[in-house]
Amino acid sequence: MATALVTALSGARKAHSLYPQSHPEHRAAFDAFVGGVARTTAAGPLTLNLHLGRLYHESTVLPADAPGMRSIAESFEAHRIESLTFQPDLTEADAIVLIEIIGMKPSADLDVATELEARGVAGVLARRLEAPDEEAAAVREERRDQDRAMYRRLVSTMKRATAQIGSGGSASLADTGPVVASVLERFMDDSAAVLGLAMMRDPSEADLFHSVNTMIYAITIGVGLEIPPEGLNTLGMCALLHDIGKLAFDRNDPAQHERIKLLHPRVGAEILARVPDIDRAAMLVAYEHHHRPDGTGWPEMEPGYVAHPYSRMVSIADRYDRLTTDAPGGEGLTPDRAVVQLLRETPGALDPIFTRVFVREMGAFPVGCLVRLSDQSVGVVSAPGLDPLKPRVRLVYGADGIAIEAKPDTDLADSDLSIVEVVPPADLSETVSDHL
Ligand SMILES: [Fe+2]
Ligand SMILES: [Fe+2]
Repeated sequence: MATALVTALSGARKAHSLYPQSHPEHRAAFDAFVGGVARTTAAGPLTLNLHLGRLYHESTVLPADAPGMRSIAESFEAHRIESLTFQPDLTEADAIVLIEIIGMKPSADLDVATELEARGVAGVLARRLEAPDEEAAAVREERRDQDRAMYRRLVSTMKRATAQIGSGGSASLADTGPVVASVLERFMDDSAAVLGLAMMRDPSEADLFHSVNTMIYAITIGVGLEIPPEGLNTLGMCALLHDIGKLAFDRNDPAQHERIKLLHPRVGAEILARVPDIDRAAMLVAYEHHHRPDGTGWPEMEPGYVAHPYSRMVSIADRYDRLTTDAPGGEGLTPDRAVVQLLRETPGALDPIFTRVFVREMGAFPVGCLVRLSDQSVGVVSAPGLDPLKPRVRLVYGADGIAIEAKPDTDLADSDLSIVEVVPPADLSETVSDHL
C-alpha cells in the first residue's frame, strides 16, 4: 500500500509539471494520490521514512524498482527529509503545496517541515533529517568564536594596560583579572580548546600575543602540577606581565636589542612595583624569568640563587612560545620538535621537573601539530590522547587530497590510522589556527 502511495505521489508530481490544474490528467493524478492517502490512512496516519537512500514504511524497505520510487527517494534526500507522515484528511490543496515544495530547488534555507507549516498544510507533516556532523560542527564553530573573542578581549585589555604603563601612567590591571579568570575557567573545562587558541599569531602585535600565549602555556604547567585556583590565577597574571619591562624601550631601534634583552627583567620588576594591588610574585617573575637553573642568564644573580617556582614555569612557557613562533629569517619549530628541544635544554637552561610536566601535558604531538596520517589524509591535532602517540585529529585534507569541511574529529585511539609525519604548516600553506 505504501508502495502504491509513492507511485501515486510520483504520478501527481509528473502531472503537476506537465498539465494545468484544470486538465483532466492533472485531476486524475491528484484524485489517485489523495484517494490513495485516504485509503492507506484509514486506520491511522502513514509515515514514509528515508534511511540510507531507501524509502521505508515502518521497518519494511519499499521496492527500489517500483514506479516513481527512485525519484521520490531522491527528493527526500535532496531536501533532507527524514520522513513524511500523511494524515487521513489530506486535501488536494495540501498535495499541490507538497509537490510544489519538493519541486523547489533544495537549499540549506529551505526546510520542508517549516515550509509546509507556513503554508497551512495540515494533511502531511515532514521531519527534517538532521546531519549530526553539521550540527556538531555548528556548535563547535560557535564555541570557537566565543573562545576567540575571549582571547581577543585579553589581548585588548593587555593593550590598554600596557599603553598606560608605556606612557608613564600608573597602570590599572583591574580589567585584566576577570579576563584571566575566564581563560582559566575555560582551560579547566576544555584545555585543548585554549591550547588551540595559543596557536594564534599576529606579527603586528607579536608582543601581546606572546604574553597571552605564555600565560596559556604557564597555566598548562600549573594545572599539570595541580596548583589550586588562586595560585593559577596569580601564575597566569605573572606570565601575562613577564615581559612588561620591554615597554620602556624603543623596540624599533636595532641598536637597542641587546640592552632590551638584558635590562627588561629589572625594568619590568620596577614598573610592576608601581602597580597597586599586584601580587608580588609578578615582580619576581618579571625579574627572574631569564635566570637559568645553572646560574647563567640575566640579570646576574649570586651563586646558588633559586628562582621562584612561577618564574621557572614562565621560563618554560616563554621558551616554548619563542621556539614555535616564526622569527625573522626562519620558521618556528613545529610543536613536536619544540617539546623535544625543551627537553634538550634541561636541566641547565630550564627546570627539569616542570619541563617534564609541560611535555607530559602537551603530549608527543601537541595541539596544533599538522600531521599526515597513514592513509595520506592530513589534519591538525586538536586534543591530546591518553596514548601520547594517538591524539585527536581534526581532518583538513582527505586521503584524496581534497579539503574537508565540517568533519568531526578523528580519535586515533579508536581508529586504525596512525601519524606518519608532522608537516611544517608552510609546506601546505596552512594556517593551523584556522582549523582550531
Ligand atoms: Fe623576557
Ligand atoms: Fe617573553
